[in-house]
Amino acid sequence: MTQRSLFDDTDTNALTAVRIHPDFSSWQQRARQLLMDEVPPQRVLWQPDNTQKRATASSSVTAIRVPKSFLTQASAASCYRSDDRWALLYQLLWRLTHGEKHLMQLAGDRHVIQLRNYAKAVSRDVHKMKAFVRFRAVDIADGDQRYIAWFEPDHYIVEYAAGFFQRRFANMCWSILTPDCCAHWEGSGEVWFSEGADKASAPADDAVEDTWRCYYRSIFNPARVKIQAMMAEMPQKYWKNLPESRLIPELIRDADKRVAIMASDAKSSERLHCGPRPAAPAQVLNEAIQQSESGSIQQLALAAHNCRNCSLWQPATQTVFGEGPVPARIMLIGEQPGDNEDLAGKPFVGPAGELLNRALAAAGLRRQELYITNTVKHFKFRAKGRRRLHEPPQEEEINACAPWLAAEIEQVQPSIIICLGVTAAQAQLGTYVRVTRDRGKLFALQGRHYLVTVHPAYLLRRGESPQEFQRFVADLQVAAGQLNSLDIR
Ligand code: URA
Repeated sequence: MTQRSLFDDTDTNALTAVRIHPDFSSWQQRARQLLMDEVPPQRVLWQPDNTQKRATASSSVTAIRVPKSFLTQASAASCYRSDDRWALLYQLLWRLTHGEKHLMQLAGDRHVIQLRNYAKAVSRDVHKMKAFVRFRAVDIADGDQRYIAWFEPDHYIVEYAAGFFQRRFANMCWSILTPDCCAHWEGSGEVWFSEGADKASAPADDAVEDTWRCYYRSIFNPARVKIQAMMAEMPQKYWKNLPESRLIPELIRDADKRVAIMASDAKSSERLHCGPRPAAPAQVLNEAIQQSESGSIQQLALAAHNCRNCSLWQPATQTVFGEGPVPARIMLIGEQPGDNEDLAGKPFVGPAGELLNRALAAAGLRRQELYITNTVKHFKFRAKGRRRLHEPPQEEEINACAPWLAAEIEQVQPSIIICLGVTAAQAQLGTYVRVTRDRGKLFALQGRHYLVTVHPAYLLRRGESPQEFQRFVADLQVAAGQLNSLDIR
C-alpha cells in the first residue's frame, strides 16, 4: 500500500518530509513534535530510513495523553510490514488529540480497523515466532556453545519479540537471525541487534536435533489429527526450519494405527476428563535420554516421563516436571500438579498458578527467574462423573517421587527453597514443621535457606481474602529480602 491511499485529501504541494529510523520510539518522538507544531497528517510525508539515528529518551518534548488501547496497538502496528503504518499512526494520534478522544471506541472507523488489523497481524506473527524458533547449538571458543536460530517473520517483529526470548532463554547465549534484523543475547545485559543476515549464516542441523524429534513424537496426539487445523497453525513456510517437520508425514500416516492402540489401552479413563496421554514409547525416550547431556535437567525431565515408581502415572495424563532456569537462586515447591497442569504438562498453570503469579509479582519476584516444581509429579485425583477431584498424595507417593525432587535441587542449586503448603514443607523439613506456626520464617539447612508458606490453593479456597493475599505476599517478600541480603554479603 502506498502513502497516499490512507488519505483522500493529501495536498502534495505542502508536504513536510519526516525521516525517521523505523521504530516506534523514533516515530513517537517525531509525532509529538509535529503535534506541538500543529502539523496536520495530510501535510506529513513519513520516510522511514534505516540510516537515521534512533530516538533516545527526550525530556524536552511534552508527553501527550492517549488511551492505553491506542498505545498498545500502535506499538504492535509499528512492526507491520508496510511503510504506510507511520502515517496511519499519526492520523489516529492527530484525531485523538483533536476532538475525537473516544475514537478508539468507534469499532467501525476505517483507521481504527486498519490499526487493529495491523496489530493483529503482528501479534500472530510474534506468536508464530515464539512457537517456531528453533535454536541449534554451535561450538565456539573454549568449549562454549552459542545457540543460533534462523527465522523468517512476515513483519518487523524481531525487536518487539526479543524480550520473550531473553526471558525464556536467559541462561543461554543466543542469536536469532532473520533477513531484516538479528537479535543477540550474551546471557546478561541487554539484547542487542544487528542488520539482517542470510540463511546460510545459520546452522542447519546440530547434535540435539534428534531430541527435538523425540519430543515432538512424544507430544503428538494421533487422536486429534486435524490436518487443516495443523496446516493453519503451522503453515508450511515454517516447516523447512523445524527439525520435527520431517516426522509429520510419518505421524499422520500412522495416526489411525496409534489411535486403535490407545483406545484398547485406555478404556477405563474414557469417562474421565483426562487429557490424551502422550505416547512415550520407551525406546524413543531412552534414545532421547542417551542423547541429552548426561545428568542434565533435560535428561531428568525425559527420564521422569517414564517414571513408574508409584501407581499415580496410570490415570494421570503425563508427568509434570519442574520448569525454569537452571541454575536458579530460588526454587518453589508445590504439592502436585492439578487438573490444568496434568493436561498442559507444566506446573502451576491453573487458577493456583495464576494467583501465585500475582503474588510473586507483588513480592518483586519474577516467575521466569525462578525454578518451579512439585513434590509429586503426577496428578492424583478421584473421578466424580467426568470431573477429576484433587486427592492429597500419600507418604508412599511422596517418597516415590523424592529422588526426582532431590535431583532437581542438585541441578538447580537454589539458595532459597520456598515450600508452598504442608506437603512440600514436611517433605523438605520434616513433620515437625507447621505451616500456620512457621510460615514466613527462614530455616537454614545444609547450606541453603528454606521458607515455608501457605499453598496458593488455600487462598483460593478462602475466597482470596485481600488480607490473606497480603500475608502470602509478605511471606514471599522474606525470600526476596533474603536474596538481596545474600547479594550484599
Ligand atoms: N498445585 C500445586 O501444588 N502444583 C501445581 O502445579 C498446581 C497446583
